[in-house]
Amino acid sequence: MDQDALKQAAARAAADYIDPMLTTTTIVGIGTGSTADYFIDYLAEVKHKFDGAVSSSVASETRMRGHGIPVYDLNSVDEIPVYVDGVDESNHRLELIKGGGGALTREKIVASVSGEFVCIADESKLVDTLGTYPLPVEVIPMARGAVARALVGLGGEPVWRDDFTTDNGNIILDVHGLSITDATGLEAAINNITGVVTCGLFAARPADVLLLGRPGGVDTLRA
Ligand code: A5P
Repeated sequence: MDQDALKQAAARAAADYIDPMLTTTTIVGIGTGSTADYFIDYLAEVKHKFDGAVSSSVASETRMRGHGIPVYDLNSVDEIPVYVDGVDESNHRLELIKGGGGALTREKIVASVSGEFVCIADESKLVDTLGTYPLPVEVIPMARGAVARALVGLGGEPVWRDDFTTDNGNIILDVHGLSITDATGLEAAINNITGVVTCGLFAARPADVLLLGRPGGVDTLRA
C-alpha cells in the first residue's frame, strides 16, 4: 500500500471511530492537510448525523462547504466533543509536530478546546524522537529576525518558508536540526519568545488517540 492509501485508511477509521459521538447537535473540529481532506470526504457521507464543523483553515472550510457541511465560527460554538487532524510527526506519547501545511495556530486553538483529539496518519509519521521533521513556528512578520536569532539560541536552524503567508497573515520559520526530548519544555520556551504566535509542538495538549494506517490495518495508539 502506498502512503496515500494508508492515510485514507486512517481517515476511514476516524470516521468510524467518531460515528457513535455524532448527534444532530454535535460540532466536529476539523484539521488541515491531505489526511484531513480524506476525513472530510468521509464525514460528508454522514453529514445528516451531526450539526456542523469548526475548521482549522480556510482550505478545510472550503472543502467542507463544497460538500454542504455547515461550518461555524469557533466563537459561536459552546462545545467541540471531538477534533480530527493529521500530523507531521508523533512520538509514542502522542506529542506531535504539526504545521507542515502552515495551519498550526488555528489547529492548536481548535485542539485546545476539544474534548478528544483524534490524530490520523500513515505509519511513516510515528517516530521515537521528534525533530527530524522541521518544526514550524508562526511568527509576526516584523519579528522574523529577532525570533530567528532566539531560535538559534535554543539550538535550532530556522529557515524562512518561501512565498508563504498563514491564514492569519503571518510567516513561518521551519526549525531544522532539533532532537526534541522535552517537547513540553521546548513548546513553552518557543511560545515565550516575543513575536512568536505559536510553535507546531503539540505537547502541552497532545493527541488522545492516534489512528495509524499500516499495511496490515489501522492501529489505535493511546497516550
Ligand atoms: C497542517 O498545518 C499540518 O499540521 C497537517 O496536519 C500536517 O502537515 C499533516 O499533513 P498531511 O496529512 O498532508 O500529511
